[in-house]
Amino acid sequence: MCMKKSLILYYTYDGNTEKVARIIKNQLNCDMESIKPIKEMQTKGFGKYFWGGTKVFMRKKPKLMKIVSDIPSYDVLLIGTPVWAWTMAPPIVSLLGLDSLKNKAVYFFYTHEGWPGKIEEKFQKLLNPSNQLIDSKGINRAKRTLEELEEEIVLWVQAMHL
Ligand SMILES: Cc1cc2nc3c(=O)[nH]c(=O)nc-3n(C[C@H](O)[C@H](O)[C@H](O)COP(=O)(O)O)c2cc1C
Repeated sequence: MCMKKSLILYYTYDGNTEKVARIIKNQLNCDMESIKPIKEMQTKGFGKYFWGGTKVFMRKKPKLMKIVSDIPSYDVLLIGTPVWAWTMAPPIVSLLGLDSLKNKAVYFFYTHEGWPGKIEEKFQKLLNPSNQLIDSKGINRAKRTLEELEEEIVLWVQAMHL
């Protein structure tokens, strides 16, 4: 049970970050919502790396679909992203610019394939100074499946002070 009102906000393209969000949700029994850009890329093939990588390098902040959750009513946000080009996916950059995120405690999680770069530093830099980043967790899918990683994720959630 969440003592503090908590909301998971995440972006996913291939569903992995969403699976992690669900594991967290099942532990905390809290709300979750996926962040979606209005214009989503259309390829699941190799072109996605080029398309997505280009958006990262161009420092794009895509317009987002309306977020239905009442963000100001939550105390804690758990923000999740896949690693794209050693940093967070562009929709998360857009999310971090929203005024409604201010003054909240934040947990950060990200899924990757072994090359996370300096995503934690980059996330901290983009976060509003009014936010308190409590902890970050990288989930490396390079050698183990998410099913195998579930216990590690659960332990991370159990250590949260919520
Ligand atoms: C455009 C793009 C760029 C990526 N860049 C990286 C990277 O720099 N480092 C890495 O470890 N994985 C990278 N990946 C792999 C994803 O981080 C990884 O598969 C992640 O779990 C996908 O999450 P999702 O299924 O929620 O979309 C990239 C994937 C895409 C589509």
